[in-house]
Amino acid sequence: MKFALRGDLLDFTGAPVWGEVDSPGVRFRSDHWLLVDGGRITGVQADEPDATWAKHDHRGRLVMPGFIDTHVHMPQLDVIASFGAELLDWLNTYTFPAEARFGDPARAAAGAELFVEALLAHGTTAAVAFPTTHKVSAEALFMAAQQRGMRMVTGKVLQDRNSPDGLRDDVVQAERDCIDLIGRWHGVDRLAYAVTVRFAPTSTPEQLAMAGALSAADESLYMQTHVAENRAEVQWVRELFPEARSYLDVYARAGLLHRRSVLAHCVFLDDTDRAAIRDAGAQMAHSPTSNLFLGSGLFDWRAADTARTAVSLATDVGGGTSLSMVRTMAEAYKVQAMAGQRLTAWCALHAATRGAAHALALDGEIGSLEPGRMADVCVWDWAAGPVAASRMALAQTLHERAFAWMTLADDRNLTETFVAGVSRYRRANERP
Ligand code: GUN
Ligand code: ZN
Repeated sequence: MKFALRGDLLDFTGAPVWGEVDSPGVRFRSDHWLLVDGGRITGVQADEPDATWAKHDHRGRLVMPGFIDTHVHMPQLDVIASFGAELLDWLNTYTFPAEARFGDPARAAAGAELFVEALLAHGTTAAVAFPTTHKVSAEALFMAAQQRGMRMVTGKVLQDRNSPDGLRDDVVQAERDCIDLIGRWHGVDRLAYAVTVRFAPTSTPEQLAMAGALSAADESLYMQTHVAENRAEVQWVRELFPEARSYLDVYARAGLLHRRSVLAHCVFLDDTDRAAIRDAGAQMAHSPTSNLFLGSGLFDWRAADTARTAVSLATDVGGGTSLSMVRTMAEAYKVQAMAGQRLTAWCALHAATRGAAHALALDGEIGSLEPGRMADVCVWDWAAGPVAASRMALAQTLHERAFAWMTLADDRNLTETFVAGVSRYRRANERP
C-alpha cells in the first residue's frame, strides 16, 4: 500500500519555453524519495523516510511520470512495419483488412490484452486510443485497461462509408452503440469515452452530425480523429466537403472541435486552423514516427507553439513504428530539425507528460509528480549499453543528459512501471 521510491525525479511545474535549454517549468530533484500511499503520490523528500515505508532504492535511476500517448490504435499491432504505402493505400491494403478481424470478441480481447501490456512495457501509463468500428473491440479495450487500473480514453470507431464490408457501421446502430458504451464506461474508474470519428472521408455528413450531437449532449466526452495528415487525403476531403473552409473546418462545422478534441497529425494546417484549435482549447497529437514512415509530411511544431496551440505526442502505431514515447520524442526532434528548428528535451518530455495531461484536462490526476496525483510512475535507467553509458558520463548539463537520454533510450531502459501505485511491469531479472 505504502512505499517510497528513491531516484532522480524529473517532472514539470509549467510549460517550458521553446528552444530554451535552461527553461523555467523544469523540476529536477536528484536523489530524492517519492512517497506513494493508497495509489497516489503523497510527498517528495530528500531524507530517507522512516521505517513505516517500504523502500524501493533506485538511486542513480530516472523517475518520471508515466507517459501519455495521445493517439494510438489498439488493433494495429498487426500491421506495424508494413512495407511500401502512403496513407490511403496503407489503409486499404493492410489496415482495414486487419481491423475487420476485431469484430470477433476473442480476437478483440486478445488484441486489447497485448496492447495494454505493451503500453506498460514501454512506460506508457495513459492513452487516447482507437479500437475498431466494432463495439466489442471498444469493450475489450475498456476492460483490459480497467483490469490494470489504467487511465484510458477510447470509443468505438465511427465509419459508415468508403470502407470495406465488415468495417462499415450505420448512423442509427452506431448511435445506439455509442450511447450504450458511454452509459457503461464513461467516468467509470479511470476510463473515459471519446466520440471517435475515424476521419472525415469515412463518415457521411449524417454520421458527423450524429457525432456532433453526442458531443454537444455531454461536454465531459472526448473526441478523437485524424486531420490533415497526407496530401492526397486533404485533397479528397476538399472534394467530399466543398462547403468547408478547410479539412479542420469539416469537424468544426459538425460541432466536433472543442476542449476535449484530440486531433491526430495536423500536418497540413494553416494559421486560421491553428487559431481555431487554440480557441477551442483542443490539442494536436503529433505523431512523428508515423508521419515519417508513411511519408506524410513534416509537422510544424514551432508554428503551433507560436499560435499557443497545445501539442501532445503520440506513437500512432501502426502507422507509427514504435510504441515507445522515447523513440517518438527522438523522431520529433528530427522532424523539427528538418525545418531548422530545435526541439528541446524539455518541450518533448513536457508534451509527453504534463502538457498532454493539461490538454486532456487530466492534470489533477496524471502527468506530474505532485502530491495528490495518481502514482503512475516509471523508473528508467539513464543509459542502456556501453555507448549510451559513455555518452551520458560526458554530459555536462541537465539538458545535455536529458537530451542524450531522449535520443538514445528505448524500452530497454525501462526497469519498472507503476499504475496507481501498483507495479504493472518489471524488466526481466529486475529485483522487486
Ligand atoms: N486516417 C484514417 N485512419 C487512419 C489510421 O488508422 N492511421 C492513420 N495514421 N491515419 C488514418
Ligand atoms: Zn492514427
